[in-house]
Amino acid sequence: MQLTDAERAMRDGDGGEAVAAAMDLLIRYGEALGADRLVKTDNVAGAFNASTPSIRPIAERGMEEVFSKLNLDSDKTVEIPHMAARTCQLITGLDDQNWALQGADPQLVEMQRKNEAFIGRRGINLFATCTPYQVGNVPTFGEHCAWMESSAVIYCNGALGGRTNVEGKESAGAAALTGRIPYWGYHLTENRYGTRRIRVDVPVETMMDWGLLGYFTGEMVEEAVPVIEGQVSGVDLIRLKHFGASAASSGGVEMYHVPGHTPEARSAEEAFGPNRAEEDFTYDATARKRMYEMLQSATDRKVDFIMLGCPHNSIEQVGRIAHMLDGKRLHPDVVLWVHTPRAIREVAVRSGYVGLIEAAGGTVMSDTCPAISRRIPAGTRVIATDSAKQAHYLPAIAKVQGWFGSLEACISAGLTGQWTGDF
Ligand code: F3S
Repeated sequence: MQLTDAERAMRDGDGGEAVAAAMDLLIRYGEALGADRLVKTDNVAGAFNASTPSIRPIAERGMEEVFSKLNLDSDKTVEIPHMAARTCQLITGLDDQNWALQGADPQLVEMQRKNEAFIGRRGINLFATCTPYQVGNVPTFGEHCAWMESSAVIYCNGALGGRTNVEGKESAGAAALTGRIPYWGYHLTENRYGTRRIRVDVPVETMMDWGLLGYFTGEMVEEAVPVIEGQVSGVDLIRLKHFGASAASSGGVEMYHVPGHTPEARSAEEAFGPNRAEEDFTYDATARKRMYEMLQSATDRKVDFIMLGCPHNSIEQVGRIAHMLDGKRLHPDVVLWVHTPRAIREVAVRSGYVGLIEAAGGTVMSDTCPAISRRIPAGTRVIATDSAKQAHYLPAIAKVQGWFGSLEACISAGLTGQWTGDF
């Protein structure tokens, strides 16, 4: 690993013990990956929170120890200085306002608040969402980032043209303290070109369509870089967010191109660069139906819990849900949680959307999601969601049955208590 003078100085302790530990971690990590140098980053999105019961014994000894252990993988507790890079907190396990509805213990909430005060003082912006790009962290084209969370990473690479691999808690912590990350994987131009082609032979337009296409793409290409060509339309933040989250769930996709729409693919030629498609896959009506069926893990049509907002909803999505629920009332046996970043929730309160959702009997939650918190309403047996990612993970995590469908189908189930689907 070649180091600059500044990096060597950090390793040798010029920035203090925490920075030295961080640099040591990055060097070992980079060497294991085969990176020959580090790259500067001023954009880190990581997980620095203390919101799980297993952290409590460490947190009781102090937040320096939590950061040292969890974000630097250090057995020695070191003093944590202000972050060197612009850094934000991703999703956490608790909604700071609605934690009682989640069934969380007040002591855990107190621990999370103490931890947030600690990391906030050290320059970590508490966005508390898996969609930092919706609330102020929008990487510039080609910007080197160190992000965690698969749906955020694929959005950063594919939709925005930022450059990141999927980092872990430790490498993100080390990057935040040093402003460096190993230069490998999707930081390198040659790894960002397409290697597989998805031919879309059925119209893909709605958010559900894009989620299903993403699920197919991940299943087919696994960790390769797909180029999506054919009958796609309506490309926007919401659709790309769902496409990416879904592709990163059924496969390990971290980068993709939609020629004419995504920033590194003004054409299919540009998307593939020097590569040729090693394989072509056709997404047609049969494949679409197969994906839809794969995402249904329920048989019981009596629904208890509707989860909307995976990845976290945009303000337009919250507004749409509010409009659909305006003047209506959820079925008394159904709980509806709408998830959105806290900053967007503030706008939704001011816009009257939260009031409309609450008047219908729903709750707008922030900071967390059921798959990450592993908390769902007590007694839930059957869930319904408009997110392919949540339908992929939550039934296994929470040991429940799951329905996947459009937002309209989910709202309808919320009002009637029955899943009818809409395929
Ligand atoms: Fe975000 Fe949770 Fe979905 S982290 S992408 S809402 S599983």
